[in-house]
Amino acid sequence: MNFAKKIETQNLNLFYGDFHALQDVNIEIPDRSVTAIIGPSGCGKSTLLRCFNRMNDLTENIRVEGKILLDGRDIMHPETDLIFLRRNVGMVFQRPNVFDLSIYENLRFGLRIHRMLKNKDEIMAAIQNGLEHVGLWSTLRDKLKKNARTLTLEQQQRLCIARVLILKPQVVLLDEPCSALDPIATLKIEELLRVLCKEYSMVIVTHNMQQAARVSDYAGFLYLGKLIEFGQTNQVFTNPREKLTENYITGHFG
Ligand SMILES: Nc1ncnc2c1ncn2[C@@H]1O[C@H](COP(=O)(O)OP(=O)(O)OP(=O)(O)O)[C@@H](O)[C@H]1O
Ligand SMILES: [Mg+2]
Repeated sequence: MNFAKKIETQNLNLFYGDFHALQDVNIEIPDRSVTAIIGPSGCGKSTLLRCFNRMNDLTENIRVEGKILLDGRDIMHPETDLIFLRRNVGMVFQRPNVFDLSIYENLRFGLRIHRMLKNKDEIMAAIQNGLEHVGLWSTLRDKLKKNARTLTLEQQQRLCIARVLILKPQVVLLDEPCSALDPIATLKIEELLRVLCKEYSMVIVTHNMQQAARVSDYAGFLYLGKLIEFGQTNQVFTNPREKLTENYITGHFG
């Protein structure tokens, strides 16, 4: 396909013990777009997403074969700097996992871990920039000392996205980021993703097909660990090449 690719897998296979969870997955994730990974529960969406910043390394008894290239470099290489990789390829989870700390400390946390910016003014500028990116600055600028857990769930999820963005990643992975949110908050987060994809490469896992259709430029359909189809979202949803994809998006299973 005709796009600048940010991530590419080549014959990616992943085993949990004897269980073959990802089978010969070849996918190209375009830069500065939203890519949705769709498919029924248990098909391997989260597993695939976690490959992109090697979060799976934290799981025991796992084996990964094949290549995972970020900007053409294989991140499976033993000398990959995992701390840098996970900063560069940030992740947002299902439930907003804000820390039981102030809004300010939530945002400063990663800067501290990664030893970025020590000067107070620079830190404040980065926090402002992060909150502006997720549309929270005007609401929260005078409340930075408030505990982040007092925010609404939607605000908390925005804060989690800001916490990733403040580390200046190139890729943002989101695993069902709206599943804890109501429909209105969900739409607002989707709007935010549409804005952010002008600057970042975003990959969202969702089993909400309407969401995938609304928010993504490209979509990949996974089924039983295999990438069945990948293409422009419009094509995948209106004119799927594979019968399995058609069955899935028309609600015949999953
Ligand atoms: N740590 C693990 N050990 C063993 N098997 C696992 C592990 N994590 C996931 N699996 C299995 O791998 C398969 C893919 O799981 P994964 O969580 O990636 O699916 P998913 O598509 O994200 O599902 P869901 O939509 O329910 O979140 C499933 O069969 C799951 O049971
Ligand atoms: Mg999952």
